Amino acid sequence: MTPANPPPDRQPPGAHGGDPVDRQKQAAAAAAAELVEPGTTVGLGTGSTVGHLLPALAARAVPAVYVATSPATETAARQLGLDVRPFTDIAALDLAIDGADQVADDGWLVKGGGGAHTREKIVAVSARQFVVMVSSDKLTDRVRGPVPLEIFTFGAEATLARLAELGDVRRRPAPVTPDGGVLADLWLDDLDPPQLAARLDADPGVVAHGLFPPAMTWLVLIATEGGVRRREVTRRP
Ligand code: 5RP
Repeated sequence: MTPANPPPDRQPPGAHGGDPVDRQKQAAAAAAAELVEPGTTVGLGTGSTVGHLLPALAARAVPAVYVATSPATETAARQLGLDVRPFTDIAALDLAIDGADQVADDGWLVKGGGGAHTREKIVAVSARQFVVMVSSDKLTDRVRGPVPLEIFTFGAEATLARLAELGDVRRRPAPVTPDGGVLADLWLDDLDPPQLAARLDADPGVVAHGLFPPAMTWLVLIATEGGVRRREVTRRP
């Protein structure tokens, strides 16, 4: 499987034109925008689906405060007039909305095709409710590699060498992240998501990986040619 998407930082909203997948992303994003309520704080993910979400939020003009998971999202949201604040002094979010590279039947996600998974994960776990919006091509029976990784620059080659015991790990030809991390992908055909997530979480050189457990997600909005379907994964308190 190839990395699902080019870096969203290089992918302006609507860049896919009128193709069916892009239309589905737009439909899922429109449904997600309806979930934002006045007076709430909302985390915004990164990617082309979020690129559709932003104008839908701007069109609704609901008074809400937003935090962004990437410079690209932050810039685009501000240009549309959304109230974007730094995510430093906000203790909790009401909602976070993001896309995904893979959504498995058991609720595991793979994220980070655009390299923003570290901030996306921080925002997802800080939100009372995390909503994922996807086109139907993102659905899969089980998650597969590549699993995106952000690695500390300090000791990066040594970390990558350790991770090579798990599978084929490839450094991405991409600039470091806004937090100074090195991006890589772990390619492996067969993976046990909880086991791999625990192994990656235990490595001090790994900043974050793109495996998101089912417990992190409240709702997946899945757009098909027939409309947008809701799949409730779990309800966070
Ligand atoms: C970025 C992500 C994105 O949510 C994921 O890559 C999906 O992107 P798109 O909405 O462009 O299909 O995880 O790090």
